[in-house]
Amino acid sequence: MTTVTRPASAVGAAHTRVEGRDKVTGAARYAAEIPFADLTHGWLVLSTVARGRVRALETDRVLAMPGVLAVLHHGNAPRVDTDHVQLLGTPPDPTAALFQDDRVPHAGWPVALVVAETSEQAREAAEVMVVHYDREPHDVAFHAGRPDIHPVDGQVPAVTGKGELEAELAASAVVLDAEYTTPEEHHNPMEPHAAAARWDGGRLDVVDSNQGATWVQDGLAKLFSLDPGAVRVRSEHVGGGFGSKGVRAHQVAAVMAATVLQRPVRVVLTRRQMFSLAGHRSPTSQRVRLGAEADGRLRALEHRSLNHTSTVLDFVEPGAGVARVMYDADAHHTANHVVRLDVPHPTWMRAPGEAPGAFALESALDELAEKCGIDPIALRVRNEPTAGPVSGLPFSSRNLLACFEEGARRFGWADRDPRPGVRRDGRWLLGTGTAASSFFAGAAPSTAAVTAEADGTFTVRTAASDLGTGARTALTLIAADALDVPPDRVRMRIGDSDFGPAMIAGGSMGTRSWGWSITAAAAELRERLAPGVDIPPEGITVRSDTTEAIGALAQKERHSFGAQFAEVAVDVATGEVRVRRMLGIFAAGRIVNPLTARNQLVGGMIWGISMALHEEAVRDRASGGNVGADLAGYHVAAHADIPHVEADWVDDPDPDDPVGIKGIGEIGVVGAAAAVANAVWHATGVRHRSLPIRPDRVL
Ligand code: MOS
Repeated sequence: MTTVTRPASAVGAAHTRVEGRDKVTGAARYAAEIPFADLTHGWLVLSTVARGRVRALETDRVLAMPGVLAVLHHGNAPRVDTDHVQLLGTPPDPTAALFQDDRVPHAGWPVALVVAETSEQAREAAEVMVVHYDREPHDVAFHAGRPDIHPVDGQVPAVTGKGELEAELAASAVVLDAEYTTPEEHHNPMEPHAAAARWDGGRLDVVDSNQGATWVQDGLAKLFSLDPGAVRVRSEHVGGGFGSKGVRAHQVAAVMAATVLQRPVRVVLTRRQMFSLAGHRSPTSQRVRLGAEADGRLRALEHRSLNHTSTVLDFVEPGAGVARVMYDADAHHTANHVVRLDVPHPTWMRAPGEAPGAFALESALDELAEKCGIDPIALRVRNEPTAGPVSGLPFSSRNLLACFEEGARRFGWADRDPRPGVRRDGRWLLGTGTAASSFFAGAAPSTAAVTAEADGTFTVRTAASDLGTGARTALTLIAADALDVPPDRVRMRIGDSDFGPAMIAGGSMGTRSWGWSITAAAAELRERLAPGVDIPPEGITVRSDTTEAIGALAQKERHSFGAQFAEVAVDVATGEVRVRRMLGIFAAGRIVNPLTARNQLVGGMIWGISMALHEEAVRDRASGGNVGADLAGYHVAAHADIPHVEADWVDDPDPDDPVGIKGIGEIGVVGAAAAVANAVWHATGVRHRSLPIRPDRVL
């Protein structure tokens, strides 16, 4: 037997981003910065009406402007095939099927693309082009009282139910019945959407900013009826996505124009255009009814959620889903409904479903604790289920109570006076709050290739996308351990659809899914590299596909969990709410890179503060569009809004994952807004059931 000296495990040790130097020196280039010879520039023209038809476009004057090469619109654009299902099982986003007819289903719908030699020429022409519409009355009014709501099965069933709800409520010692609302919210990744497309020897070559190169490759191939092998999508560096960076209007517009002009075309969205073209989180209206014994044990739980969708396609923001995992009750009913309005099509955004759902449910739990006169953590301990409340399945692991225990200890929860509105610091009222967090922990099939190079290094190729999260670095560490070599001998290549099918950076499943395929390929490669094997100049490559391994996983409730804690100060004169400190303790699988994991969890919690106090897109009923659709009108938490935020974790390796990973992409935001809102109640004695908790609502 040979003796192998195993390097210390790379997974679990803090590692700075492998591309960090490239990013801070500007060497890392993003989609809109990558040069193409003979490049032209497209600028989208968006509708100014919220419903109707395009009657005419005055293109002649625009075509005579300097540098203008073409105007594409529904009368002359290439046809696309919209009758297909995308890689992730969803139909194409309606906004991506652009220029197919004259119908305008919402304000900010793309009606034309002006292509010119320079971006400035394209923009000027797009802005002066006159478009005539036949207007129709529109309706963007979202509220719970609408008669035209209907249940929609999204990625989860619309309705679940067991037990007699009304009977259990009637038999309960304590009943809570409350409505919660969350506003329309927008992703606002730092890097706006951008894509350049060109035809290169019969192959479509697209450089893009996205959450999955093979996702966009698959979508473009289907839209344009191309062989997937004839489409290459690259996305090396991405400045945030949060659910918004899939197959969208800018890539499709760039491909159309490149096809018509037979020149490379780049289309970049402005921040303002992103408000109608990048998707958004629908507003929600949620009703939670809880019935409990005097000691807090739940007899009845009902969670109903309503969101808006476009008139073109149903999208469900499944707010009621979180209750299906968190708490059991003798009668347990949940339902997700939608109402179709003349609004842009919503999409996944930062823990879709869980983030607004946990605001309602975890606020309601806090209200119930108050009514029962018991501690909010004790209430959650009392209602901790032993199996999935709706599914009946065992949990793969559920360490929620360990999170509360550790969080309470570090936050100093034991010293908390439960009475609201009794602590003062000058003009500030002080309070603390807590909430639970959970997010689905899944894995999806991916492929990877690992090459042993002749020089003793290894090259790993997988079509992962690093949105800035540190995924590239995490995968480097996973590969190093799987190959039993130090991380500096691993070269990680990602963001290229030519590397083969892979999960997207989404659903908190990216790193786990890609890591699984890398681990599988590396294991096989090590077997091939028996001592004495000569490595040829082209190296030895092993490919993996995890479809079978992941398909064979036993049915379990698979989730990450967490406990969020917040301390707030409320200015009783101005209504200003300041978060003073925040702590999140998570049970979210084995943590691959503590440095970037902490960044990501803290980032999620900051989004939670932002959701609780700031973010709100206002839809104007008269125009049907967003008011203040930019980063001045739509306030995202800035440095000055954010206090000391701490994130940590308890030991929680996933028993069914080769590395023990669960996924940390979204759990940080879930429950964070409820923890802040519960702290505002504790500070003031007033419940805030509508987000954001703006100063004018506090007063
Ligand atoms: Mo996330 S909302 O799955 O990008």
